[in-house]
Amino acid sequence: MTRDPIRSSIRSLEANGIGLVAGMALGDPDLIPLWFGESDLVTPAFIRDAAKKALDDGKTFYSGSRGIMPLRLAVKDYHKRTCGVDLDVERISLPGAATLAVVTALQILCDTGDNVVIVSPIWPSIFQAAQMVGAEVRFARLDDDWRSATPRWSLDLEKIFSQCDARTKAIFINSPGNPTGWIMQPDQQRAVLDFARKRGIAIISDEVYGTLVYDGREHAPSFLEVAEPDDNLFVINSFSKAWAMTGWRVGWLVHPKRIADQIGVMTIANNTGPTSFAQFGAIAALSPEGDAFRHEMRERCRAGREVVQKFVDGQNRIRWIRPEGAFYGFLHMDGLTDSLKFAQDLVRKARVGVAPGSAFSTDGPGAHDSFVRICFAQDAEKLSEGLSRIEKALASL
Ligand SMILES: Cc1ncc(COP(=O)(O)O)c(C=O)c1O
Repeated sequence: MTRDPIRSSIRSLEANGIGLVAGMALGDPDLIPLWFGESDLVTPAFIRDAAKKALDDGKTFYSGSRGIMPLRLAVKDYHKRTCGVDLDVERISLPGAATLAVVTALQILCDTGDNVVIVSPIWPSIFQAAQMVGAEVRFARLDDDWRSATPRWSLDLEKIFSQCDARTKAIFINSPGNPTGWIMQPDQQRAVLDFARKRGIAIISDEVYGTLVYDGREHAPSFLEVAEPDDNLFVINSFSKAWAMTGWRVGWLVHPKRIADQIGVMTIANNTGPTSFAQFGAIAALSPEGDAFRHEMRERCRAGREVVQKFVDGQNRIRWIRPEGAFYGFLHMDGLTDSLKFAQDLVRKARVGVAPGSAFSTDGPGAHDSFVRICFAQDAEKLSEGLSRIEKALASL
């Protein structure tokens, strides 16, 4: 047999559970889709208008490698307003969407055979991106303690530290977390930073849900607040979530300044920079009008969280750890042992789309097979109807 040139880390990639379920009925008008990480709102008009104007003004050419300067300056300003951090604009790059920022950070850090320690459960594209660059994925699972009256997700730092070795290049943390809504606190961030600094390990901090917090703060604790500018810190951010811009594919990466030129080369090689006219929409998103929309979005999500809370309060078999941030309910269902099959049945028989818990890590068979994830950034009535369809389906399990 001739040699197969396909890399084994690519051959072993498998469609993740969210894609498998959504692929069954994407766009079906009779189905209530709660499976993806996006709200049901169309991007607001002032953002669409800014992009339309850019199109009409002929902004249809290559736009430069790391994003246009007015957008990078607007991102700088955003960080100052939301987290009080004054970033050198040379630390800000827009390679395309946040997903591409994740891939870029991993490309910067990992050779084949290196490993990345990832706090889980986590959105599957993160660990698949690590696999794609040839890295070994090691999970540090959040603990879910259900005994207290107010159960919480918590991170045992030893689970991260004990898995790091000479081939560990990065610790990947997503806070506020998808799917849990867990938020990492500054004392733990400092401890991880201290550990990583001593060992030459980078931190990739995925903060795409940074402003979707429900305790009155403008932003969840950011690694940018505890780190020094030249730390090996890569912070991922996105326009997708807080501004309802999932289809635009614009996000950003904050990185050490010393790697800026190489990131310029990488963004050209990976994507020749972000979409020209979309960047003008992104500038509008970072305006005061954009801040107002972002706050409305947060209130809408807060209302969605209450809808789910009320639902869960009335259930015997469904419970959750009330999320502190992001816009997901990670629902635990007593008696559920195959979340993918259940999610597929929900599409076929109950006409509601959820993400199966098993998609959110590969750390052990059945690690999250009693869970399904729903996105509550939705119209309250539609969300309630979706939840009652799930309830009925579970009853017949
Ligand atoms: C944790 C996390 N990081 C990154 C992304 C990707 O964001 P974008 O749509 O900007 O690529 C998502 C999207 O679901 C996410 O949940």
